[in-house]
Amino acid sequence: MKRQFLDLGRQPIANGFLKDKDFDGEFFFDLKVQFDDETCLVSLSEFVPPEKMFNDDYVYHSSMSITMREHFEDAARTFINEYEPSKVMEIGSNDGVFVRHFPEDTTIAVEPCGNFAAMTNEQGYQTYAEFWNVDLARKILEDHGKQELIFSANCMCHIQDIDNAFEAIGNLLTQEGVFIFEDPSLLKMIERNSYDQIYDEHAHIFSVVALNNLLHKHNLQIFKVENLDVHGGSNRIFVKRVDNTVIGMDNSVWRNIEMERNAGLHKYNTYVDFAKKVEKSKTKLVETLRGYKSQGKKVVSYGATSKSTTVFNYCGIGPDLIDYIVDTTKDKQGKYSPGTRIPVISPESGFDNTVDVAFLGAWNFKKEILNKESGFLERGGKFVTHVPHVRVLGV
Ligand code: TYD
Repeated sequence: MKRQFLDLGRQPIANGFLKDKDFDGEFFFDLKVQFDDETCLVSLSEFVPPEKMFNDDYVYHSSMSITMREHFEDAARTFINEYEPSKVMEIGSNDGVFVRHFPEDTTIAVEPCGNFAAMTNEQGYQTYAEFWNVDLARKILEDHGKQELIFSANCMCHIQDIDNAFEAIGNLLTQEGVFIFEDPSLLKMIERNSYDQIYDEHAHIFSVVALNNLLHKHNLQIFKVENLDVHGGSNRIFVKRVDNTVIGMDNSVWRNIEMERNAGLHKYNTYVDFAKKVEKSKTKLVETLRGYKSQGKKVVSYGATSKSTTVFNYCGIGPDLIDYIVDTTKDKQGKYSPGTRIPVISPESGFDNTVDVAFLGAWNFKKEILNKESGFLERGGKFVTHVPHVRVLGV
């Protein structure tokens, strides 16, 4: 049985930054979250049609931060050393931040956002500008045969029909092949109360417990789990085909399952408790920002993230509380935040001496941002974050 536990209200497309001419007719949906007793999978109750989110206007560039560039370079180097794959495929290749570390002639990419697919095609990687599913896997099988390493980062959790996606993986992986994917961790979301991991694109937030149940159905077996710091806490899941062979399992699989069971991720009540904490976080955040505003302070937001779309729309935070959002992404600058319509500008033009307080929309890059903005803190500037609880960061 699927049971709902959280209602984050009417929400827009989280990455759908708007030009002012787009204000009329903006798309909204009910952002509600449910738990499946059978598989332990946490998913949105209502999915948004994928074409509305992943299209030629998609703005999220994986290469935009040093953290992510280094992360994918390290990943590629480690996989090459460990598995020496002669045929590699990435699903959700974005701007090529991962594939660029592999040879063009033995590496293929899948990327439904046309603007990004064009970039990797230009870099010499054959890129299928399509959604990942069983039909596409069949086509790739005909064109290129089975793959030895299939990698996917922050993409599997976007796929609404996850059973179909895993079946497609099983069909395209060689007998000895490895499927490695990484997505935000449900355990970290619950521990950090980072409810803003929930937005339209994240059709599911995975636990290892749920993935173990789902992958088994397709003769796929998790043999290792790595806990990563990126995206506010993610898991990298290593998978092989089981068929009739026995595969060696790393202790990390049992360790993660045990940690998750200890945190109650297999029980509905855990999520009911989480929902109560989310509501408290909202009250405290609005109080904090209003407090600064009533003292005449200038409050902005740092990082125009999908996550902050959830926070602002759920908490009712608009231009009355946040003057503008600063973000380094050129495609977001000059636009407005989805739903709440807060202007987005470049840090060069907006993160200046007039700013007193900045909400940390990109809290997952806290270390990088605090490092970069040490001058802001030294002159008395404050960052406000809601993760793991609402608090002020300053010196
Ligand atoms: P991210 O947290 O990865 O996004 P999402 O919630 O959409 O998955 O995106 C970080 C955003 O923050 C991205 O738009 C770039 C921006 N950013 C800055 O503006 N300055 C910075 O120093 C960093 C690290 C990120």
